[in-house]
Amino acid sequence: MKLLVTGSAGFIGSNLVEYLLTTFDDIEIISVDKLDYSGHKINLKNLPGGINSDRHKLIVGSICDPELIEQIAGEGIDGIINVAAHTHVDRAYYYPGLFIENNIEGPLNLLNAVEKHKIGRMLQVSTDEVYGATTPDKPFDETAPLRPGNYYASSKAAADLYISAAVNSKKIDAVVIRGTNNYGPRQYPEKLIPFFTRRIVQGKQIPIYGDGEQLRDWLHVKDFCRAIWTVFTKGVAGEIYNAGASNHVSNKELSLKMLGILDADPQLIKHVDDRPGHDVCYAIDSTKITDLGWSPVADFETGLRETVMWFKDNREWIETIKEKSDANPVNHEFFANHYKNRL
Ligand SMILES: NC(=O)c1ccc[n+]([C@@H]2O[C@H](COP(=O)([O-])OP(=O)(O)OC[C@H]3O[C@@H](n4cnc5c(N)ncnc54)[C@H](O)[C@@H]3O)[C@@H](O)[C@H]2O)c1
Repeated sequence: MKLLVTGSAGFIGSNLVEYLLTTFDDIEIISVDKLDYSGHKINLKNLPGGINSDRHKLIVGSICDPELIEQIAGEGIDGIINVAAHTHVDRAYYYPGLFIENNIEGPLNLLNAVEKHKIGRMLQVSTDEVYGATTPDKPFDETAPLRPGNYYASSKAAADLYISAAVNSKKIDAVVIRGTNNYGPRQYPEKLIPFFTRRIVQGKQIPIYGDGEQLRDWLHVKDFCRAIWTVFTKGVAGEIYNAGASNHVSNKELSLKMLGILDADPQLIKHVDDRPGHDVCYAIDSTKITDLGWSPVADFETGLRETVMWFKDNREWIETIKEKSDANPVNHEFFANHYKNRL
């Protein structure tokens, strides 16, 4: 089977490509990533056979480029897994246009290729954030209304709606998976776990938004990769599947766990101005995907410890990512604007 996997040089994409190539012998992958600020070739360096081999080829380019996607689709692929997106809620406040372009126009471009080249199936990786906030005792199933609370979530919700419209009106085969907060190796260091790990290791304060009571359901990236593959291979055409770990931890509790793992002073916690419109809790019902035979296996305490130690110990990765980040003026602008009164 030959697949197009997009966003392969990012956090989830690189873990997915690694999972597929190391688990199945009969999968060949063309991966497309535009190596935006969070995408890096170093994330693919441990693939069996290296970044480019007889089973994997990285093409540096955008899913928003119709000619590129047309060319890849025209050469013959059996399916598309779209992982590419802009993913940071805080950046979406400052650069909403990037989220419209990459998270909505990009998937639409892929859908056009699926239709034109009669590609077997497309899977869109989406997020629990499209449902908006709830409480753990009132999890949303896949029929819940979409009430995104920030521009990242609204761009993901829009893409999901384009998928269902394409399934309905173009009669193509597409499925959507909505995952909860992922954690694991190679996550870009603007996200909570790698960001806080780095600051704790440096003895710096960690900025917790508001009271830190926001609840997130933490899903190990390896479990999410298995979930993606389960939906790609067993999901019913046109359907949406939630995937969560029912593992709710508040941001403050998570920070305290990380401080404990790194044997650091809890006084490093600094409460700062909350994110505007910060959703207090995301919670989803994953019954539908468990009916396909998937369930998460990672133990959160073990997975968190391994993840924190991965970020602490992988100096080569951190320095490589930092070098690219330091050279990016937009990163400086975002950090200066967003954290000016918070750090
Ligand atoms: N991280 C999470 O907790 C989480 C949870 C649920 C769903 N998701 C979804 O999973 C996907 C991946 O998230 P992530 O955390 O790995 O993000 P990430 O930022 O680490 O990776 C995104 C990758 O996409 C690439 N990319 C962005 N725009 C592109 C474009 N137009 N063309 C080609 N490549 C492009 C980037 O270069 C990067 O390599 C996203 O769709 C996100 O919405 C993430």
